[in-house]
Amino acid sequence: MLQVNNPNYDAICLLGRQPELSIAELEQLYGAQNVHPFSNDAVRVQLPADFDIQRIGGTTKSGRIVAEFKHTDWPAASRAIIRYYDKAWATREGKTTLGISVYGQDVAPRDIQRTGLALKQALKKRGQSLRLVPNDAAALSTATSHHNKLGLSDNKVELLVVYGKRSMLVAESTGAQNISALAARDQGRPKRDAFVGMLPPKLALMMVNLSGLPADNAMSSRSGTILDPFCGTGVVLQEAALLGFDVYGTDLAEKMVDYSKANMQWLAQKHPIGQVQIEAGDAIEHRWKSPIDAVVAETYLGQPFSAPPAPDKLQKVVRIVSEITTKFLQNLSAQIEPGTPLCLAVPAWRDANGNFTHLPILHDIEELGYQWQPLEHVDVKHLAYYREDQIVARQLLILRKI
Ligand SMILES: C[S@@+](CC[C@H](N)C(=O)[O-])C[C@H]1O[C@@H](n2cnc3c(N)ncnc32)[C@H](O)[C@@H]1O
Repeated sequence: MLQVNNPNYDAICLLGRQPELSIAELEQLYGAQNVHPFSNDAVRVQLPADFDIQRIGGTTKSGRIVAEFKHTDWPAASRAIIRYYDKAWATREGKTTLGISVYGQDVAPRDIQRTGLALKQALKKRGQSLRLVPNDAAALSTATSHHNKLGLSDNKVELLVVYGKRSMLVAESTGAQNISALAARDQGRPKRDAFVGMLPPKLALMMVNLSGLPADNAMSSRSGTILDPFCGTGVVLQEAALLGFDVYGTDLAEKMVDYSKANMQWLAQKHPIGQVQIEAGDAIEHRWKSPIDAVVAETYLGQPFSAPPAPDKLQKVVRIVSEITTKFLQNLSAQIEPGTPLCLAVPAWRDANGNFTHLPILHDIEELGYQWQPLEHVDVKHLAYYREDQIVARQLLILRKI
C-alpha cells in the first residue's frame, strides 16, 4: 500500500454509485489512516498536494475543505457562505463562475439558487461579476460540473456543502470526474466487442488502484508491470498504461489478442505510454515472462444472462467458471513472487431478490496460495460491481500472493 509522503490537504471526496468500492480505492491509494468516513456520500481524506481526480475511478468530485460547522441548517450555512465569499472575492480579477452543490441534506434547488443570487448581488456592489450555474437538484451533476470546468481554475468555483453525521463541511472543488475523457476511452477505441463484455474504463481504473500497487507518475522510473491474463479488448491494459505502468496482456482468443494490440496502438498515438506486451495464451497453463508486479483482470465470467437462470443451469455455469478460475489461480500462483498484489473481477450471480451466488472457490483462497488484503473501512470479502438490472455481477477480489 502506498504510504503518502506529504498528506498535506484536508479534502472531501464524493463517492460514486457504489460507495464501498470508492472508499476501498481511496484506502488503497492513500492509506486507511488518511481516509475517514464522513457521510453516506462522502469521505474525508488527507490528499497529497499533487492529487489528480483523473487518476481515480470511484470519486465523482473532490474538494479542499475550507470550513467546518457543527449542526448548521441551510439558512445559517447560506449566510456564512455569502458573508465569507463577499469578503474573500471583493478584489478578484475577472468574472467568476460559481456552482453550489449540497449533499446529505434535502435543500430545495431554488433555496441554493437564492444563496448564489444574494452573493452575486453583494459582489456586484463591489464591482465584481459572478455567473451562477443553475441547480436543477441540490447537487450539480458530475456532467454539469465537468462541462463547466468547475474546480479546474481559480475563477471557476464549485462549493461542495456536505452534511455528515456530526458536522457540515464546505469545500472548494478541485475537479469532477472527467466523463468525456472516460467516454472517449470507452467508445472511441477502434476495437470493441459486446460479446466478451468490456469493462467500463472507470471500473478498470478502479481495479488497478484497488490492487494496491503504487503508481508512479514519472514515466522514466519503472513503476511496475501489470499482467492481465484475460485481457479481452484491453481495457485494463489501457487504464494501467495511462497510470504509468508497463502492461502485459494475454488471452485465449487470437481475435482478442489482435483487438488488444489495435486498441493499445490507438492509445499510444494519443498518450505517452510505457511498454506493452500482448500474446495469446490459455490462463490455465500459460508461462508468463517476468517481471509481474501486479495482476489485474476480469476473468472468464461464463455466459451472459438477461434473466436469472434455472438452478440447475446456474450450478452448471458455476462449476465451469470455478474450474477455470481455480486452474488459473494455481497456474499463476506458481509464477509470481510472494506479496504480489492482485485485483480480479470474477462473476457472482444475482437472483430476482438481489441475493448472490458466489464462486465456491472463495472459501479456498488460502489453499490456492493467496490471502485477502486487509481493508479497514470496507468488507473486502463482499465488494461487487453491478447495475440493478444485471444478473452477472462482478465480484472484486483484492488479494496478495502468500
Ligand atoms: C470477461 S472477458 C474480459 C474482457 C476484458 N476485461 C475487456 O475489457 O475487454 C474474458 C476474456 O477471457 C478470455 N478467456 C476465456 N477463457 C480464457 C482462458 N482459459 N485463458 C485466457 N483467456 C481466456 C476470453 O477470450 C475473454 O476475452
